[in-house]
Amino acid sequence: MTTLPQAQAFPIQLPEVYPADQIPWDTIPSPAFVLDESRLRRNLSLISQVQDLSGAQIIVAFKGFSMFSAFPWLREYGISGATASSLNEALLAKQELRGEVHVYAPAYSDAEFPQLMELADHLSFNSFSQWERFKPQVMAARAAGKQVGIGIRINPEYAEVETDLYNPAGPFSRLGVTRSNFRPELLDGVDGLHFHTLCEKDADTLERTLEVVERNFGEFLPQMQWVNFGGGHLMTREGYDTDRLIRVVRAFREKWQVEVILEPGSAFGWGTGWLVSSVLDVVENGKQIALLDVSVSAHMPDVLEMPYRPNVLGAGRAGELAHDYLLGGTTCLAGDVIDEYSFDHALTVGERVVFDDMIHYTMVKTTFFNGVKHPDIGIWHQKGEYQIVREFGYDQFRAKLS
Ligand SMILES: Cc1ncc(COP(=O)(O)O)c(C=O)c1O
Repeated sequence: MTTLPQAQAFPIQLPEVYPADQIPWDTIPSPAFVLDESRLRRNLSLISQVQDLSGAQIIVAFKGFSMFSAFPWLREYGISGATASSLNEALLAKQELRGEVHVYAPAYSDAEFPQLMELADHLSFNSFSQWERFKPQVMAARAAGKQVGIGIRINPEYAEVETDLYNPAGPFSRLGVTRSNFRPELLDGVDGLHFHTLCEKDADTLERTLEVVERNFGEFLPQMQWVNFGGGHLMTREGYDTDRLIRVVRAFREKWQVEVILEPGSAFGWGTGWLVSSVLDVVENGKQIALLDVSVSAHMPDVLEMPYRPNVLGAGRAGELAHDYLLGGTTCLAGDVIDEYSFDHALTVGERVVFDDMIHYTMVKTTFFNGVKHPDIGIWHQKGEYQIVREFGYDQFRAKLS
């Protein structure tokens, strides 16, 4: 593909963030997910500069980040829409973000489709069979004046994702249409293509993916108005090559004369806050074990799914500092253990243990397993004040059951 000269650079200015070591953690009621306004603003500032410089529309994937009390800031930085993967998320996009609603789900039901159509500005189908099934409704809505972009999700059969759980282009994937299943004769009424094959990736992966997309689906691009590059563009991670992303998007837009949409989730919430927990007990069974008022399976399930080891403020790996502890949760699941950490002092009941980077893919995935106390949702404001925006109690736990 044609890219602009490698030398072209697009400097991005970022605001300062609130120093984490100046936050009085002991004063924050535990447990709590704490979003840091200054860190979110830094991410939003970067994303909006990339949006302006690249000409792509960057929308937020609710599956990764849908903390709606923060949406006024998203609007302030020019985030004009969201991608919803369900009717509930589409309703949230309409009611809370109040921007464009893009919808993609692996399959739509007859029961929900009419309402989704009403809400959607863009709607992508995962298969031609679903497109054929719902096309009459789309065409009827368009005839009645509804403006809705229709896309087909393609599967480029190329991904650089190491974990099978997160690889949408792996063998037997149900996500997107492969080239051999692509039905050009059914493209009437379709104005966009959608692909999503990245997961926490840099722009070089996107560039290589686009080469495959162009090779396999390039013949259909001239008839498209837009291409959605999905999510997984971790542009707010330190070291991400934003210059390259901007060059790649600009070149693609110019070459194919299409609008480009990016729909990251993680990039919005990346590094924007913490899960504050406190020690309930310390027991000994071959190792020192600290029991915390949070649960890995109920409150940070990606730690088990991915899996990964979250950072804890002020702690090191086992053996690095004087006192080692296994950190465990409050459910009775035997595996509700986060990992082994070391601290420079002996942990005491009541003291705070703060997990880093716990905003994206946490609140959206939590459960009330075992009925354990669900963490509050709070905001650390950049003027140095803490606000609890949501507390959970018996009513919320009960409302999920019957
Ligand atoms: C279709 C689609 N778009 C966007 C995203 C958001 O990806 P990320 O949060 O990695 O940026 C996902 C994540 O699974 C997805 O499946």
